[in-house]
Amino acid sequence: MLERRTLWLLAGLAAGIVAGGAMGGLAASFSSLPSFKNRPSPAVELIRRYGCAGCHQIPGVPAARGRVGPPLEGVGDRRYLAGTIQNSPENLVDWIVDPRSMVPHTAMPMTGISEPEARTVAQYLLAH
Ligand code: HEC
Repeated sequence: MLERRTLWLLAGLAAGIVAGGAMGGLAASFSSLPSFKNRPSPAVELIRRYGCAGCHQIPGVPAARGRVGPPLEGVGDRRYLAGTIQNSPENLVDWIVDPRSMVPHTAMPMTGISEPEARTVAQYLLAH
């Protein structure tokens, strides 16, 4: 009788260990699922939505392979935007919202992006 109980106890223990192992496995497979961290940043979504990707190569945005405008990698290090506008975070935002108000004949159109959205995109560009 006592022996039986011990056996059950051992079986229970073993089951616990197996279950624990399975839980560990589950946790591991959950952590390999795309998490919030792996989601594209809001800036990347805006870059796609407003067509920037169709005209520019942009680091971190694989779909952005456009060659109509210059590649935007390291745009923060450039002295001038569009060859004429003094580069600054504010001017970059203004440019993204309404380039033709700054350089009337530029080929870059107004995309309809709002100022707060342009700020998000500018921050992203300045960090890449
Ligand atoms: C229809 C094509 C087109 C679209 C869409 C477009 N751009 Fe441009 N972009 C250009 C062209 C062309 C230039 C070069 C302008 C010039 O030199 O006059 C440019 C220039 C720029 C510059 C200045 C780069 C530099 O070094 O002078 C930035 C920054 C920029 N674009 C960001 C964006 C962002 C952000 C978006 C999306 C909201 C966007 N562009 C959408 C064509 C486009």
